[in-house]
Amino acid sequence: MPPIEVTTRDGEPKDTQADTRICGLFENGSLTDAELQKLVDGGEAKGNLKRVCVTHEEGRRVIIAGLGKEEEFSPEKARIAAAAAASRARELGAESLSWAAPEKDGAVTGLVQGTLLALYKFDRFKSKDGDDEEEDDPGNGIRSLEVVGGDADEASAARVVALAQNAARDLQNLPSNVCTPEFLTSRAREIAGAHDTVEADCFGRDEIAEMGMGAFSAVAQGSDTDPALIVLRYDGGGGPHLGFVGKAVTFDTGGISIKPAGKMHEMKFDMSGGAAVLEAVDAIAALGVPVKLTAVVGATENMPSGHSVKPGDIVTAKNGVTIEVNNTDAEGRLVLADALCYTIEQGAERLVNFATLTGAIIVALGHSYAGLFSNDDDWFAAVEEAGRVAGEEGWRLPLHPEYAESIKGKYGDISNIGEAGAAGSSSAAEFLKRFVGDTPWVHVDIAGTAWGMKRNYVGNGASGFGVRLMVELARRSASS
Ligand code: BES
Ligand code: MN
Ligand code: ZN
Repeated sequence: MPPIEVTTRDGEPKDTQADTRICGLFENGSLTDAELQKLVDGGEAKGNLKRVCVTHEEGRRVIIAGLGKEEEFSPEKARIAAAAAASRARELGAESLSWAAPEKDGAVTGLVQGTLLALYKFDRFKSKDGDDEEEDDPGNGIRSLEVVGGDADEASAARVVALAQNAARDLQNLPSNVCTPEFLTSRAREIAGAHDTVEADCFGRDEIAEMGMGAFSAVAQGSDTDPALIVLRYDGGGGPHLGFVGKAVTFDTGGISIKPAGKMHEMKFDMSGGAAVLEAVDAIAALGVPVKLTAVVGATENMPSGHSVKPGDIVTAKNGVTIEVNNTDAEGRLVLADALCYTIEQGAERLVNFATLTGAIIVALGHSYAGLFSNDDDWFAAVEEAGRVAGEEGWRLPLHPEYAESIKGKYGDISNIGEAGAAGSSSAAEFLKRFVGDTPWVHVDIAGTAWGMKRNYVGNGASGFGVRLMVELARRSASS
């Protein structure tokens, strides 16, 4: 099915062809339409965020959607309100929506994204014949969204970004037997093919080894499926040279330090950072943001086998640092070490990496904030602000010489694990820091936010976290 069409128009919200019109209501606010205001007066329609009230006028459905407190309005509130309204409209069999945009900064972006993200579903592996309950679900019957009073450029850019995020969610949701490093490579080539400004460069097992990437190679050596170092180069005709780096472990068994079976299936999502990076490039290129961008994704499985890396093995990363692999389940940092070195070598002046790196970040921040670590306060501030504006928030956690001390190697320069049970996310960040030198860098640990967020517009599943942040960051970097 083609993606949902998004249009804007001026005029009266009531003058719509859509079968369902939606109007926002602030807490203790009022509506100009007298009939609808009666529902507010009667207490049936309320402005609390996520609240929806359904009524009808002249054969058309009307949804009054709570926007929360007016003074607390943000694009994120619009995303949440729009998601609540869209989900209800879908349940009721709506095919076309018309939103009356509140006159607030970023409202149109929030409404478009909240709607498109909430209507996403991943059901391509569900059989379509048979009398499954799913069959009766009108599902994605919604074909169009009109935003009344919305700026056309803002709406279409918001749509590009939301579709990129949904594309990242598709890559995440695909099982590891489909979404292999080779599959990600073809997706990268497809993105490059779609834009004159993007080129793809992809390297296989032998090339990864020849480039001196001993850390990445060590992770990949246990798997019979070939790894890939995927590079997308975007030239927007000026601006600073940004480097986006993503961890794409297409399945993380833990390797010889194998994970327990209980939640292992979730490790198909261990490629979420790489997925977000690839799809962000697609959006940035589509929007023509004037920056130069080198996006690097390290894609491999982490498998136990007769040829796996073993605890205690010592490998040499691209920058010559020797690493004791004391736990083969701390594989993400090995992949990123070489990918970060490579990105710097390619000339990137400021780096951000996205990785489902540590379970410990979930202990610290749950599923609400990504963990942020940085060697540069100004670049950190830019990344944090981009995340806040885009509704993908991060919280800074510390680096410290003592955390660096905890990953000192006994036989090699560094170990890939720190002290057990002590600041695991920070020791992982200190590990990465060894590979970025003085280049301004932010590490975004998305182990808690890549899936399992409680935000209504992404449900509990794959979130595509990072796409909105990266697009916002590229836009802000361009203008500064
Ligand atoms: N991919 C995992 C991190 C992870 C765990 C992401 C749970 C999402 C949910 C990573 O490769 C890993 O296994 N990290 C280890 C590091 C440890 C061995 C130092 C961890 O967090 O347990
Ligand atoms: Mn692991
Ligand atoms: Zn992992």
